[in-house]
Amino acid sequence: MADPTLNANAKVVRWHESQQKAGFKFLVTEIMGYMTGGPQKYTGRPMEEAHMHLAISAAEWRQFMRVAEKTFERTAVPVGARRELGEILEGFQMQCVLPEGHAPPPDPGAPRPHPSTLGTTFQRLGGVYPIAQFADRLVDLLLSDRGRAVGVAFEDIDSPDARRHPPGIKYLLTELLLSAAGGPEVVTAKEFEEAKLGVPTAQWAAFCAVAADAAAFFPTPYHRAMILDLISGLRPELCIGDGAGTDGASADTSTATIEAAGFQRFDAVAALYETGGDAERALDKLVSGWRPEGVAAEMAAADSAAPRCPFGGGRLAGGGKENPGAPKCPFDFGGAGGAGGADGSDAPRCPFGFGGGAAATNRPPAEPPLPPQLMATVKTMAERGGLGAEEIATMLQLDAKAVAQVLHPEQFDAGGGVAVLPPGLAEAARTMAERGIDAEQIAGMLKVDVEAVKATVASTTAAANTGGKVVGTGAAAS
Ligand code: HEM
Repeated sequence: MADPTLNANAKVVRWHESQQKAGFKFLVTEIMGYMTGGPQKYTGRPMEEAHMHLAISAAEWRQFMRVAEKTFERTAVPVGARRELGEILEGFQMQCVLPEGHAPPPDPGAPRPHPSTLGTTFQRLGGVYPIAQFADRLVDLLLSDRGRAVGVAFEDIDSPDARRHPPGIKYLLTELLLSAAGGPEVVTAKEFEEAKLGVPTAQWAAFCAVAADAAAFFPTPYHRAMILDLISGLRPELCIGDGAGTDGASADTSTATIEAAGFQRFDAVAALYETGGDAERALDKLVSGWRPEGVAAEMAAADSAAPRCPFGGGRLAGGGKENPGAPKCPFDFGGAGGAGGADGSDAPRCPFGFGGGAAATNRPPAEPPLPPQLMATVKTMAERGGLGAEEIATMLQLDAKAVAQVLHPEQFDAGGGVAVLPPGLAEAARTMAERGIDAEQIAGMLKVDVEAVKATVASTTAAANTGGKVVGTGAAAS
């Protein structure tokens, strides 16, 4: 977007000049790939959320369409395809242009990580934008004097027959890195020789040095070590020539051992970095609670990241009131009140998994208390380090109840609520409570979760008040 009319919009030009444009280009390519029937799956924000705060006017939109038309001409897109692409772009107008007279909503801020990526390397590295920025810098360095000796071949973007042009290779490299990091992106060109970055196998060491330079913008040495770890794991996908596939990524047993003990890859790589690669010391460090950074902020950020429809289906352009002309999700096959009986499993579903169709009407399954990797970490710290729920929660800055639920699932009911204690313990807790001992002390003495003690005592009181039975004890309330 180097167009002066579009960049006259102060909120747009800020992006044009920012380092984030690599991630933005990646997401635009991804959504266009999906919309044109490609294997890509769009993973960015709903279009409305990404655009309404920019206050794009109808005139700016028309200019955008003119720029698109000129680009089709320059790149010799056949006339039929040009028309179809134009129609797809037009289909986004309502989600991108702020209707006249509407105040723009506030800037939504940095994209929130999808809950499915919580704790992954993808999330720890910061998601699409920094990883795309790394791929962008890496390809640019390979094209520069600094990296040309590595010998990666590119074709000119303006050549109509070009297949391996820098923007295309940047996109595919980003896809590969995001997916390897645990992101939701689909790898669309695996094992196609010409879609590989194309590092000559013999130049691997020189390439790694260039990759280290490309990683320099990451905020900590742990982030830099992590992205290089990803690169080294992707060696067979990046190299061409003799031995590219066979002499590939040497299985990093140290990282794998630490991961097998229940720690996240990012933490494993960071701890190995700290201990100079000594796996035993790295594991001890992690078991004793060391982390390269807190997980609390990441948890909080992901907490509110409920998936939303990328087409803004059912929501409003910058408003809050009902708007009959508001964009509609093309995958809304019935929605609330529509498509009677749309609860069958064979009913159509939104391919983005954002709801729509039957998925929206189904009750979500009970959520695990923590993401799988964190659950494994919590269990390892309890088993190997002998730590209790409260201590682990403090060290990892997690919710104490969630940690207790991982370690003592029997104390919680199916919906994640606190269940009362089993009969023997419940009896003891109740007796102590009757003698005036407080819940914390009882929990400490019985080595159970304090919430379970409170729930047990409360259920006794409630049962006594109603003359009913004490839940879970089978005993009549006295
Ligand atoms: C069919 C037309 C368009 C498509 C498909 C499109 C696609 C996208 C996508 C996928 C994103 C990234 C969303 C994310 O971060 O998750 C985005 C963001 C953005 N788009 Fe567009 N866009 C379109 C039109 C426009 C126009 C006309 C402008 C400016 C005149 C524009 C300016 C921007 C800017 C500045 C951002 C970053 C906004 C932010 O996150 O704060 N886009 N767009």
